Amino acid sequence: MWKKLLVGLVAILLVAIAIGLALPRNIHVERNTVIHAAPSAVFAFINDFHKFNLWSPWAKRDPNTQYIFSGPGQGVGAKMAWRSEHPNVGNGQQQIMVSDSDRHVQTELNFGDMGTAFATFDLVMDGTDTHVTWGFDQDTGYNIVNRYFGLLMDKFIGPDYEQGLVNLKTLAESTPPAAVTPATPPAVAASSPASSTGLELARMSGCLACHSIDRKVVGPAWKDVAARYKNHADAKPQLINKVKTGGKGNWADVTGGAPMPPYSPRVSDTDITTLVEFVLAL
Ligand code: HEC
Repeated sequence: MWKKLLVGLVAILLVAIAIGLALPRNIHVERNTVIHAAPSAVFAFINDFHKFNLWSPWAKRDPNTQYIFSGPGQGVGAKMAWRSEHPNVGNGQQQIMVSDSDRHVQTELNFGDMGTAFATFDLVMDGTDTHVTWGFDQDTGYNIVNRYFGLLMDKFIGPDYEQGLVNLKTLAESTPPAAVTPATPPAVAASSPASSTGLELARMSGCLACHSIDRKVVGPAWKDVAARYKNHADAKPQLINKVKTGGKGNWADVTGGAPMPPYSPRVSDTDITTLVEFVLAL
């Protein structure tokens, strides 16, 4: 009886392995969209990890995800590591391997034990539109477990890719062309520990893609924001609300009407309060 069971189990295992080996080795998932903006407007958001979370479908899923950016601000060699307790976000790292201006970006994704994969973005100009293809490619080698996972990959990440492209489209279409010139955050001398944590938090939260302390980038210089609200009694709650929900119009004369994106729940309420206090104290 036990012997039969054992033989049966071994047979099942062998069949599972045989099927696994016959499954496709290369996993490919892709999604497309058409964005009514120039390729350069789209490229700015995919060639810079500091701007990735403005549209990433995963950023909203776990606002408590921790991000560490390293390497150059954008282009080849730029790196972003993330760490999250959320099972659908998890831990990993991605690095830009290929960056061809306004056309193509390839990143290598490293999911630790789950292996590595590549993500690609291809931009093709079509009149005043840009066709965007976001692809995912993984070579499973002889990893049979990953080959089985491959069957489900389209279901796993397809909907996330679709949501990401919707976000990217909204963002690229609402950002005026002048605003997307790559914003390299200037090095700002931190004058005190408090301001350095505020600044660090701003960098981690992606604010510095559009703001600098003393010059206009996409958004107004934070020193000008501090000056404008100096004598306003309810400046703090008002600005907290603005960072949470986004909006435009208050700085149209400086920004040409560019919108400030919503940050809640991507950035926690506590962090938003710290950021606003930091800005107002400048
Ligand atoms: C994609 C670009 C972008 C990013 C990223 C960004 N901002 Fe802004 N921000 C803007 C723009 C544009 C405005 C001007 C909005 C307006 O005219 O009302 C603005 C305005 C502001 C203001 C002034 C709001 C007002 O109504 O006077 C504050 C404060 C601010 N941003 C803080 C932040 C913080 C904190 C972060 C990061 C959590 C951040 N911003 C990230 C673009 C951005």
